[in-house]
Amino acid sequence: VPSTLLLRYAPHRAASRVRVARGGLAQLGSEVRRTTGARRAVMVSDPIVAALWAGAAARSLARAGVACDLVVVPAGERSKSARQLAALWQGFGRLGIGRGDTVVALGGGVVGDLAGFAAATWLRGVAWVAAPTSLLAQVDSSVGGKTAIDLASGKNLAGAFHQPRAVVVDPDVLGTLPERHLRAGLAEVAKMGMAVDAALFRRLEVRSDLALARDLDALEDLVVRSIRAKARIVLGDEREREGGRRTALNYGHTLAHALEACLGYRRWLHGEAVAVGMRVAGVLSRDVAGLPESDRARQDALLDRLGLPARIPRLAAGDLLAAMSGDKKARNGRIRWVLTPRMGHASVPRLIPGRRVEAALLEAGARA
Ligand code: GLY
Repeated sequence: VPSTLLLRYAPHRAASRVRVARGGLAQLGSEVRRTTGARRAVMVSDPIVAALWAGAAARSLARAGVACDLVVVPAGERSKSARQLAALWQGFGRLGIGRGDTVVALGGGVVGDLAGFAAATWLRGVAWVAAPTSLLAQVDSSVGGKTAIDLASGKNLAGAFHQPRAVVVDPDVLGTLPERHLRAGLAEVAKMGMAVDAALFRRLEVRSDLALARDLDALEDLVVRSIRAKARIVLGDEREREGGRRTALNYGHTLAHALEACLGYRRWLHGEAVAVGMRVAGVLSRDVAGLPESDRARQDALLDRLGLPARIPRLAAGDLLAAMSGDKKARNGRIRWVLTPRMGHASVPRLIPGRRVEAALLEAGARA
């Protein structure tokens, strides 16, 4: 006799406490204790960030009574890999990380995505706390619970939604961020503006010189406004439903992810790829969705002022199309793009004919 049981679990009650404060890294330990209760942590970082900030982070954890071990992965996008994920699992096993312990991700978007995914999968899920040290991670990737690794066949293809219990954002650490990473982080602020918050876009326009000069008050202001904008979106659509609001945050990302995959996750930073992705999304938004040409031009002028790349590197349009759609015959198919008819109002993804996308790619420098 068939029987059906409906197991209705209470909606999971994930909560992330996001704290932005100059000098806030000194409170990492108390934030870990307060949000996870853990007395033991494993801190994941890369050698460059660890040399600068792991000491301060470990001292803060010790002051709060949290014992901590450090595990480092090589710096760079190539570490968002199955190989480094397995290395973290082995490290966690060696250290005896248990259900009540916590993972602390001290680093940029790569470390956050990788360590967060390791936390999501270790023992079927342990708590984690993000201490983002790049601008890109502070304004975007550390908030919202997306964790993932890249595969040769596509960026972020394997991952999980796993909210960090706390996000400890200290704008002071941006003082040592390499210039290229600073610019790449500002690309995501510009994206947030174009996609969901026109006021943020205007703010970045008037404060871009201060931001590039590393004025920490100006950066803190942009970080807080970006996080607020992102929070408004992800709180209403945590898991990026089909057609949900969160998809707007992928403005510029259809091409960005394809560029990164076609470059083997080398050479370009994510934010740099997003900048070129936004420029092409701007052209398609104008031609297909009615974005005024003046707003498209403003977007590109801001990206120029931020010193972000304007052209697609020497890659074949056909390869990019295939990477975008996961389909070798993409030219004749249709590809999902987030477009914005109005600054700050990106729509749900639309299906754009491959031929039209190809024309935009060729115009932006892709090889025929
Ligand atoms: N970075 C886009 C998102 O978190 O949804």
